[in-house]
Amino acid sequence: MKDILTAPFVKEMCETTANMYRLGWDERNGGNISCLLDESEVSEYLDLNNVIRTIPTGFEAKDLIGKIFIVTGTGKYFKNVEKDPENNLGIIRIAKDGTTAELLWGYSDGGKFTSELPAHLMSHMARLKVDPENRVVMHSHPTNTLAMNYVHELDEKKFTHTLWEMCTECIVVFPDGVGVLPWMLCGTNEIGEATAKKMENFRLVVWGMHGIYGAGKTMDETFGLIETVEKAAQIYMLTAHLPRVNTIKDSEMKELAEFFKVKYRKDFLNL
Ligand code: 13P
Ligand code: ZN
Repeated sequence: MKDILTAPFVKEMCETTANMYRLGWDERNGGNISCLLDESEVSEYLDLNNVIRTIPTGFEAKDLIGKIFIVTGTGKYFKNVEKDPENNLGIIRIAKDGTTAELLWGYSDGGKFTSELPAHLMSHMARLKVDPENRVVMHSHPTNTLAMNYVHELDEKKFTHTLWEMCTECIVVFPDGVGVLPWMLCGTNEIGEATAKKMENFRLVVWGMHGIYGAGKTMDETFGLIETVEKAAQIYMLTAHLPRVNTIKDSEMKELAEFFKVKYRKDFLNL
């Protein structure tokens, strides 16, 4: 058996949480990540028959029975993941009943997976239906995205449109736009269900006055989605109080989307 600390999926979680922390997106225990793993890659590092303990999830994830995820722990600081992955991360498998997580590694101080597991697993289920290659769900509190929530209408067409206007490549990076939820109580099945519903159409979902969710095939893709929204939100926050002299026109956004051959939300443009 190889040393799990050398596994690419553990290293990637360490690198990503460290990057997110250094960018100021994930203060204290803010943010969480889950990544779907292949049984074959995990079995190189762990005995899959060795269940350390079982933890009820509080909801049913039938479509994910037998699936294995690496997930950040609840209350754990992204700042600390890199120096102590075994305590701050866990590898879980959804048990046959669909409502229990079998711990295969991690949460070594007796902890458990993120309180946002409902939003993560429900989003995985929703995304896998539209994209069987989806692997990653990421939640974060990026500063400018959050600031924008306080000064911009929380309407997904208007919110997406403003972001698309802020950087030329936005419409190419997230042509499907950004779904927006109003403020809701976090850590609940209800916010999980609402997020997953949005994930049927979007890879990015803003949680009003809280943060953002992203989903993608790889850690880089998912991180890049949130990073691009955050950059656009930063430009917006730097300019929102100033007279707007120039902007990217809707006809130019259409030109971009067509040139780069992306399937974009036409109804989010005013043409
Ligand atoms: P956890 O510490 O449970 O992952 O919660 C952090 C968070 O961002 C809640 O939305
Ligand atoms: Zn949060």
